[in-house]
Amino acid sequence: MPITGEMYRDIGRSAAGAVSVVAAYVGEETGVAALTVSSFVTLSFDPPLVMFAIQHAGASFRPIVESRRFGVSLLQASQKHLAERFATKGSGQRDLRDFVPGEALRVPLIADALAQVECSTHQLVMSGDHAIVVGLVEAARTRPGQPLLYFDRRYGSFAAI
Ligand SMILES: Cc1cc2nc3c(=O)[nH]c(=O)nc-3n(C[C@H](O)[C@H](O)[C@H](O)COP(=O)(O)O)c2cc1C
Repeated sequence: MPITGEMYRDIGRSAAGAVSVVAAYVGEETGVAALTVSSFVTLSFDPPLVMFAIQHAGASFRPIVESRRFGVSLLQASQKHLAERFATKGSGQRDLRDFVPGEALRVPLIADALAQVECSTHQLVMSGDHAIVVGLVEAARTRPGQPLLYFDRRYGSFAAI
């Protein structure tokens, strides 16, 4: 390994990121697979693509990939409790009541999120112990508010300088 694990973790701690919840319904909308991510980014304007990275050993990997569609909710600063909830190990099933179905694709979204993005899966790239999931944005909504950010293992929000 070219660098130590500790150095790699230090890089991660130095990279501030917006916090999102990625989610997909399981089966006939009887359950939800969901996880907290800080790897969500917009990727392409035309066509409109977004992406995030997901650990393929995690419980939510398979149901999200098999669903072929997913919702991304960019959290508000006031939604830290949801980030913490979906960063705990799941069994592939989360509480349905934390989500509302999107109007376009009926993917699970978090109410009052700063942005809600409904995606169909466009591409899946296996990369190391993660996969990069590229989504085609089929519908989206944004609202004014403050983002939830993660930096140096702590949650915070944005302050302009
Ligand atoms: C702020 C934050 C950001 C995270 N970002 C990611 C990420 O981008 N990709 C990922 O696979 N896990 C990420 N995680 C870890 C997952 O949320 C965590 O492993 C979760 O338990 C996975 O759910 P699962 O067990 O249902 O798959 C992050 C955790 C935190 C606290």
